[in-house]
Amino acid sequence: MICFSCCLSSEDKIQTTNSLKKSIQDTKSISSFANISIKTDSSRRRYIVEEIEKYGKGNISAQTFTFNDLALATKNFDSECLLGEGGFGKVYKGHIERKNIDVAVKQLDRNGFQGNREFLVEVLLLSLLHHPNLVTLEGFCSDGDQRILVYEFMSNGSLEDHLLELTPEKRPLDWITRMRIAEGAARGLEYLHETANPSVIYRDFKASNILLDENFNPKLSDFGLAKLGPTGEKTHVSTRVMGTYGYCAPEYASTGQLTTKSDVYSFGVVFLEIITGRRVIDSSRPSEEQNLVVWAIPLFRDKKKFHLMADPLLGGDYPMKAMYQALAIAAMCLQEEASTRPLMSDVVTALEFLSGNKTDLEAEGGEEEVAEDDHTFKSPPALQSFTSRLERAESNDTNANRERD
Ligand SMILES: Nc1ncnc2c1ncn2[C@@H]1O[C@H](COP(=O)(O)OP(=O)(O)OP(=O)(O)O)[C@@H](O)[C@H]1O
Ligand SMILES: [Mg+2]
Repeated sequence: MICFSCCLSSEDKIQTTNSLKKSIQDTKSISSFANISIKTDSSRRRYIVEEIEKYGKGNISAQTFTFNDLALATKNFDSECLLGEGGFGKVYKGHIERKNIDVAVKQLDRNGFQGNREFLVEVLLLSLLHHPNLVTLEGFCSDGDQRILVYEFMSNGSLEDHLLELTPEKRPLDWITRMRIAEGAARGLEYLHETANPSVIYRDFKASNILLDENFNPKLSDFGLAKLGPTGEKTHVSTRVMGTYGYCAPEYASTGQLTTKSDVYSFGVVFLEIITGRRVIDSSRPSEEQNLVVWAIPLFRDKKKFHLMADPLLGGDYPMKAMYQALAIAAMCLQEEASTRPLMSDVVTALEFLSGNKTDLEAEGGEEEVAEDDHTFKSPPALQSFTSRLERAESNDTNANRERD
């Protein structure tokens, strides 16, 4: 099930529901490219457009651009237009004159390993999956050896830019914006896991892949690493462990076992980064603080130390109870045992309260009545279940420690 922001008008809601229904039907065709494998020899490369058409079965909404179109859009890939550079190549800001839209143009590094497969998966998935929290693929270019992806332009860049690599001219994100970003990103994952059919494992959930529009609405980008989930009772076992170090679930890192619960773990890591403002791996910190999760686990067990986990850039401006509940959600997502991690739909339900999109009264069907300066935070049922599960885990832990002593 999927939920949309309560600020949509009823007309918008009907349209969104219709397009969602269409996208759900369309996603069935993604099962046909579950095991795509593309040879990387140059003769094969020439046929990439035909491959996209074949696997996309007429559902490809992305437009084909020529290399010249994109050279024109980016002033010949001028370094002034450079937005950033990732593992697969450089990203430039561009403007498509005939559509009068700004775009982000990602030119894949031609020496990148498996580049064709990632390119194809990205084009196919983003053409078939549509959700307000997934970035839109405007088009692609596969002229000759070029592999270029053209995305909608996200004017606030990535969550990483606003959280972990803050430049002096940027204001730190406030608490409620952080919770809204977490909720939107969780909705993106919920759609991939629980609405797409078959489900899609995102595999590379991290702060730099969460892009922010002009209103700080988050959208997931980079689907090249995504995997289609197992059908039936099978769990997917990946032969190559990919993704980004630190964000990877322990079972995925050690045995390559990949399920939607690996994404839930990565969500927990990013959510912890959102709360603490600390990078998952930070070699500039003292050795016991370099790995965020290792540092956080003992603190999760001690309520008196929770304030130590809040990002100092919040300046203490957050509701203490909400901080406690946010940490409870992060802790549940970060459980070692994959099966005990929550579903993304549970996480979304819990986050709706922290982001202010829902109050406990609304959840019970009552009228919302909040005093103007009421910053107290009541625990809604969804969060109560998270916090009580955490408390149970805490007391089991204490009992185990006592028995050991
Ligand atoms: N659609 C977009 N709109 C605006 N900026 C973007 C867009 N896509 C990417 N960027 C910018 O380009 C940067 C590089 O993105 P890219 O996805 O190539 O690398 P990354 O996410 O840092 O690393 P990785 O290759 O591991 O995903 C991002 O951090 C972001 O600042
Ligand atoms: Mg990226």
